[in-house]
Amino acid sequence: MKTFTLGQSREQVMALIPDRGIKLVQLGTVKICVSRLGNEFFAFETLCPHQKTPLHQGQVTGLAEVICPLHHFRFDLHTGQVRSGNCAELKVYKNLLCEEGLQIFI
Ligand code: FES
Repeated sequence: MKTFTLGQSREQVMALIPDRGIKLVQLGTVKICVSRLGNEFFAFETLCPHQKTPLHQGQVTGLAEVICPLHHFRFDLHTGQVRSGNCAELKVYKNLLCEEGLQIFI
């Protein structure tokens, strides 16, 4: 497992990732999606497990789900579990907001 740090401070990473926005982020050789709901951040794979639609074009709900833009399957951003639909789970990555930025564990 590798640890990456996004941004250089708590404030910077809060500004970088808008509330309920989804940003594509390159970490080393890996590209992931990062989103935020209030003070809680989520890191997850870029492509929907159903038919590989880019999830940064989807939506994040107030229940901490991402909704795929194509068939509207819903995934729990804490666990990756499918909340609506029928496919494999979404891969999610642990993260930790600290004074130095957002640490993401890939
Ligand atoms: S491709 Fe995402 S729900 Fe079908």
